[in-house]
Amino acid sequence: MARGAIRIGVIGCGFYAQNHLHAWKDLANEGAMLAAVCDVDAGKAQTAGRSFGVPSYTDAATMMATERLDAVDIVTRHDTHRALCELAIAKRVATIVQKPFAPTWKDCAAIVEAAEKASVWLAVHENFRFQAPMRHVRRVIDSGAIGTPSWARVTFRTGFDVFRTQPYLYDEERLAIADVGIHMLDLARFFLGEVERISCETQRRNPKVRAEDTATMLLRHRGGAVSIVECTYEARRDPDPFPETLIEIEGDRGSIVVRGGSHMRVTSNGTTTEEDIGSPLLSWTSHPWHVAQEGALSACRHFLDCLHRGIPAETSGRDNLKTYALVDAAYRAAAEGRAIVPERWNESMGAIANGRGAP
Ligand SMILES: NC(=O)c1ccc[n+]([C@@H]2O[C@H](COP(=O)([O-])OP(=O)(O)OC[C@H]3O[C@@H](n4cnc5c(N)ncnc54)[C@H](O)[C@@H]3O)[C@@H](O)[C@H]2O)c1
Repeated sequence: MARGAIRIGVIGCGFYAQNHLHAWKDLANEGAMLAAVCDVDAGKAQTAGRSFGVPSYTDAATMMATERLDAVDIVTRHDTHRALCELAIAKRVATIVQKPFAPTWKDCAAIVEAAEKASVWLAVHENFRFQAPMRHVRRVIDSGAIGTPSWARVTFRTGFDVFRTQPYLYDEERLAIADVGIHMLDLARFFLGEVERISCETQRRNPKVRAEDTATMLLRHRGGAVSIVECTYEARRDPDPFPETLIEIEGDRGSIVVRGGSHMRVTSNGTTTEEDIGSPLLSWTSHPWHVAQEGALSACRHFLDCLHRGIPAETSGRDNLKTYALVDAAYRAAAEGRAIVPERWNESMGAIANGRGAP
């Protein structure tokens, strides 16, 4: 897979898939070829096929049997992820799947196990860490400007009506943590490393939703750092930072603060600099979603690069189990009113891993 264009079939042509479709089209000059699209809803499949000039299908198995695909990009909702991943893995097609990975830990671990057994490349489209501002923060940490990070706050607090475009969120059994907190937990790992224990308080502030819409989590990282990870869909703020993640990180030599508008202040050894680190507005993106949309494009670019080079993605299936373990641990911590060691990851790694990740 190291040479030539990577032929990609997108499965699911709903709300969020539009970003993936545009991303793959934009990446044509970097070696991506959107080859086909599929949705069980024939209207959505045809519309996407017509808009992007590719054949459309209503059945993923038929698409994979008919088209010569190197990769599929699954952008359906999580209840369909396991079956679709297993279908692609059985066909030995590299597989990208949207977050949340799958409805349960058992499903996620089974997908990773199937991919590793078949040596099929597998990645989870966990895109927040690929957003331009988040990459920027990571570069500042890596530069050593703030010294060793020992404390952070990762915040996503909004009242933006996410239910308008994603009405299914009203009925999710697990809402704020599984839908958006998952990104914050992944960012906490990205900035401060793996987690030793987590505690969590949840709230259901909007009576119309079935599950929690607010979560406040406290993490102790393995290196000793502590982070506060927060998310809510029920904040009343002006300005509302949606869909930006706000960040505060303190180290022994300085700090990083990212405020709304992707405005970053870095204090390093007593000197403070300010920088605008916003995501670029692309031809198909629109304010304020462009922050998330650019993150989706950057994630796709990373997957494409890894596929060309034959290396695992940063957010491989195996890596994403660690983020998913934190999600599960957060729910358990909230239910049991105590800090939880996300040991599930260690257990599962012992059970499912017998060596390196899939190439
Ligand atoms: N990373 C992010 O920032 C972000 C943001 C929004 C949504 N998402 C994720 O994207 C995924 C899709 O969410 P959405 O809001 O686009 O949902 P959606 O309901 O708008 O779209 C899903 C589409 O999948 C189709 N589908 C269902 N089963 C299928 C199958 N077996 N084969 C082919 N097509 C099938 C449906 O007909 C629908 O058109 C979810 O996992 C969601 O969590 C991620």
